[in-house]
Amino acid sequence: MSDVLAELGSLRIVPVVEIERVEDAVPLADALAAGGLPAVEITLRTASALDAVRAIADARPEFLLGAGTIITASDAQRAAEAGARFLVSPGLTPTLAAAVRQLDLPFIPGAVTAGEAMAAVEEGWDLVKFFPAETSGGIAAITALAGPFATRGVRFMPTGGIRPANLDRYLASPVVAAVGGTWIATAQHLRDGDYAGITERASAAVSAAQQ
Ligand code: 3PG
Repeated sequence: MSDVLAELGSLRIVPVVEIERVEDAVPLADALAAGGLPAVEITLRTASALDAVRAIADARPEFLLGAGTIITASDAQRAAEAGARFLVSPGLTPTLAAAVRQLDLPFIPGAVTAGEAMAAVEEGWDLVKFFPAETSGGIAAITALAGPFATRGVRFMPTGGIRPANLDRYLASPVVAAVGGTWIATAQHLRDGDYAGITERASAAVSAAQQ
């Protein structure tokens, strides 16, 4: 496992963030780091996303900076060029697998079924994003999938519908490497400039992960 993925696995929380304004990027990173969570997955869902990745990569090179919503080969290439240190996808296709392999960056492909987990393993990745977690069976589905896959070294990063109220359930699972979600820093929190709240929620999530 790469150092970056090992660090994410020791933090156990990955804030997933949609950034609308590039000027929010570095303050966001600082607010997360102040809460003990120097990691983020910036989703490529806004016009500013790649510039936001670039801004954090330039200003905070030590930050565990990921790019998410990697759907095409071009998404992967552009995110890598912008300075992402790891890539996250909601799924996996052979085209994307080939493109990511060329980039030689840590990668977390999406998988919620046995067949999808097998495709990820076949391509050489054993940490999978279980997305959308809550509507795909949640922790019960992950626990069931762990039956055949945990002994092959597969670990899960559930994301989608996870909030403080159900976070502990996921963190309690030994096959959950890390939990992702937007609750720590939503687009609205950024619009409101609620950096103190971001730090507070990051810190609470880190405490939950350490218990
Ligand atoms: C993701 O891309 O991981 C999800 O949009 C996060 O889902 P959430 O908003 O329910 O945390």
